[in-house]
Amino acid sequence: MFSVLKVSLFFVIATAVLGVGNSEHAAAGNINNIGHGGRKLAETPSPESQGFINIDCGSDEDNYIAPTTGIPYKSDKGVIDTGIAKTVMSGTYDYQLLKKLRSFPQGKRNCYTLQPKQGKNNKYLIRARFAYGNYDGKDKGPVFDLYLGVNKWRTVDNTDNSYYEIIHVASRDYIDVCLVNIGQGVPFISALELRHLDSSIYQIQSAGALSLLFSRRDVGRLDSTNSVIRYPGDAYDRLWYPMPSRVEADWIQINNNSTIDASSSESSDQAYRLPAEVMNTAAKTQNASIPLKIYYDVQPGSLSKYYCYFHFAEVEKLEPDQQRELTISLNGKRYLTETVKLDYLNSQTIVQDNLAISDEAWLNFSIKAAPGTQLPPILNAYEFFELKELPIEPTDTDDLEAIMDIKKWYKVRRNWQGDPCVPSNYSWDGLNCNDDNPPRIISLNLSSSNLTGDIATSFSKLELLQSLDLRGNKFTGSIPEALLEQSRNGKLDLRVDANPDVCLYTTCKREKKKKFVTPVIASSIVAVLFLLFIFSALCTFCFFSTLYQTNHMTMPAANLFLAEVNVSILIIFLTVDMVTKSSIKSKNRQYSYSEVVKITNNFKNIIGKGGFGNVYLGKLKDEIQVAVKLLSPSSNQGYKEFRAEAQLLMVVHHRNLVTLVGYCDDGENKALIYEYMANGNLQHHLSVTNPNVLTWNERLCVAVDTAHGLEYLHNGCKPPIIHRDLKPSNILLNENMQAKIADFGLSRAFATESDSHVSTCPAGTLGYVDPEIPTSGNFNKKSDVYSFGIILFELITGRPAIIRGPMRNNHILDWVYPLIERADIQNIVDPRLEGEFNTTSAWKVVEIAMSCALPVAIQRPDMSQVLAELNECLALVLTRGRNQRMTTECRTSSMPHNMFHLVLESEIAPTAR
Ligand SMILES: *[C@@H]1O[C@H](CO)[C@@H](O)[C@H](O)[C@H]1NC(C)=O
Ligand SMILES: *[C@@H]1O[C@H](CO)[C@@H](O)[C@H](O)[C@H]1NC(C)=O
Repeated sequence: MFSVLKVSLFFVIATAVLGVGNSEHAAAGNINNIGHGGRKLAETPSPESQGFINIDCGSDEDNYIAPTTGIPYKSDKGVIDTGIAKTVMSGTYDYQLLKKLRSFPQGKRNCYTLQPKQGKNNKYLIRARFAYGNYDGKDKGPVFDLYLGVNKWRTVDNTDNSYYEIIHVASRDYIDVCLVNIGQGVPFISALELRHLDSSIYQIQSAGALSLLFSRRDVGRLDSTNSVIRYPGDAYDRLWYPMPSRVEADWIQINNNSTIDASSSESSDQAYRLPAEVMNTAAKTQNASIPLKIYYDVQPGSLSKYYCYFHFAEVEKLEPDQQRELTISLNGKRYLTETVKLDYLNSQTIVQDNLAISDEAWLNFSIKAAPGTQLPPILNAYEFFELKELPIEPTDTDDLEAIMDIKKWYKVRRNWQGDPCVPSNYSWDGLNCNDDNPPRIISLNLSSSNLTGDIATSFSKLELLQSLDLRGNKFTGSIPEALLEQSRNGKLDLRVDANPDVCLYTTCKREKKKKFVTPVIASSIVAVLFLLFIFSALCTFCFFSTLYQTNHMTMPAANLFLAEVNVSILIIFLTVDMVTKSSIKSKNRQYSYSEVVKITNNFKNIIGKGGFGNVYLGKLKDEIQVAVKLLSPSSNQGYKEFRAEAQLLMVVHHRNLVTLVGYCDDGENKALIYEYMANGNLQHHLSVTNPNVLTWNERLCVAVDTAHGLEYLHNGCKPPIIHRDLKPSNILLNENMQAKIADFGLSRAFATESDSHVSTCPAGTLGYVDPEIPTSGNFNKKSDVYSFGIILFELITGRPAIIRGPMRNNHILDWVYPLIERADIQNIVDPRLEGEFNTTSAWKVVEIAMSCALPVAIQRPDMSQVLAELNECLALVLTRGRNQRMTTECRTSSMPHNMFHLVLESEIAPTAR
């Protein structure tokens, strides 16, 4: 009967008595006046259980029962954010439903979203009512468009208590009914009703047409009061009006007081659940030679398709050998090939599928007695619908679902109603779609919308999104990895700056927790840990003393005890370190330019010059020293995502990464405020002019520290951070000679599209750039590994990566490889060490450096492997160091890998003695 095609949005339009005009339903007061009672409420399922939605638009009474129908109506307060509730001029309508309305002076399109509980793929009757009642004192009702979802339903040009009805198979779980302002007055609506129908009735087919027309008549009721039969008489709450009097003139009313039980009918007709009050009356003509005619004007030349439902039931008690037999013709042509035979008190519905009328300007039905039969034709009721195709598809289902989630999640307070994309001139604020059918969402601008909470993963479900602007909100937490991925791939222009608490890296969530470690709690932890370790140390001591006594072993238990104490002290340092870090972290913030001036004491003390500008020594209020990197204004326009990137960098914390404690983004003036690193950069330490030559072990420590920092950027951050410009001048040393990587993430932050800023946005530095970059142009982890390999060679040899020659530059690899081939380690290692190094470890580091500096990127190891191997070198040196009674402390500050070595030491040391 009906098939749901891909373009599955068809609906049958039923427009209230349009062809006949106003007079037909002028008696608004009678709209709910059931003329023919006789049915008890109890026999009919309650409106709720049937799937009724009843909205009294503009009403301030939230739940009232309409007295004659027993239908409960709800105010629209909870279902719509826009519009203004209004009251019609007093005395205009008696019917409570029509006394209030909601008008929409603002916004071109305003929509109600109906969510019937039966959901999609169900058939619904939807009725919109308009009763102007001169509510605005203008004495003239508006004209506006009514939309069902994205397709036009019709133009509402009669608002003098009219209603428009459709039957619709919903393709989504919700149905949007929208009012569109077309510049002819303020749209309004009085009521909106939805009824769930059995899907076997009122076929809807795919071949469609335009325009609309509707009529539903209780033919046999020659009732001059114009009363309507509806719920509870009609289980589906269809509105059945009697025939207008001018048509009925020569018709004879017949009726039968026995109840016609429509539900006892054979076939599927029972699903129509025709009201007994409608079916037990009929009209007949004087005699069998006179046909029963029903005439409607339609749009001339329209290609519309009409579904005409004739409801028949024999109501006259006939002789046993008699049966009424009818033919139906349309515009003089046979409409039905077969005759219709009527059964006593048994209703049947006749409908011709897919009725096409292409050439006539009218529908002229003629119901006749079948040839050779003597009984005049009768008709009990009919319903005419025009099929209307809905050619425009709504937004892609996945996109719609995602954007609906976003709307719901953030309770977006914009005029976000109806379909997001279509019609395109009414698409949602801040949202753009492509021209596909169905359309897809390609950009979303939710900047400065006061949004809070996490950035929902739903954003990443908008697959074709090219631009997402979330600036100036109060988002917290991290950005979904999928979004970052799209952003990194260049598919998405993602903007998140001016969200103070947002972090671009998922790792920062873990880091953030430390924020809550207040110094008080931390110091309690210190105390508890200390006691715990003293206790455990004592226990160990006791245990080994006993062991010693019983086994007579030469176990230096005292040493072990000391080792335990060492560990506990280390833990304390660790915790204290964490506390200071967290206190620095809590100061992560934005500074104004005037504050920067104050911090740097008016830029008094230059401590460095970098590609981005000068670096000044500064002091925060609590005397903590900082390095302030003032970004030169000349390249300010290059700092596209400055704030977002600064915020991003502030949440990346690692002991071997220079901490960004704040930033300044004050118009032209931009600055980054870092923790101060007292011992400058590695380049300075390796330079020939530095009298304090780094020892072999110090160099190994720097290598391990740097590897740690880089490994964290690569593997500890999701997504990984690629440094892109790793070199000795970006490796800084603090007062304890602990090495930390600086300027990570900056080249990304300040990369511009134009090549004119090459000098200020370094894509690597000569000598350190992965040889694959010029061809691939793609910085990745392995390009950082290459740079790291070059730094290792510098640490080993004490030579710079590039020695500029008069003819050509001499790269460190060109210099070192011949020596490696000759296995000449004594000439490879920096002569300034004067042979004070461990040969085994030196070879190992050379091997690591070689693997890192391999010309083919994929052959280079990951930093985690590099780190593990360097740690082995360091362990080698530290163990040996202890044997040689050399002081080989890398640094005094506390670090987990220090702890590791310390434990290692105490395990090995006793046996070595
Ligand atoms: C049917 O009724 C019409 C109008 O009253 C009349 O002219 C006609 O003769 C009648 N025909 C028969 C067969 O009775
Ligand atoms: C988003 O909207 C704001 C305010 O209208 C505007 O300033 C900003 O440029 C828009 N963003 C994008 C990416 O177009």
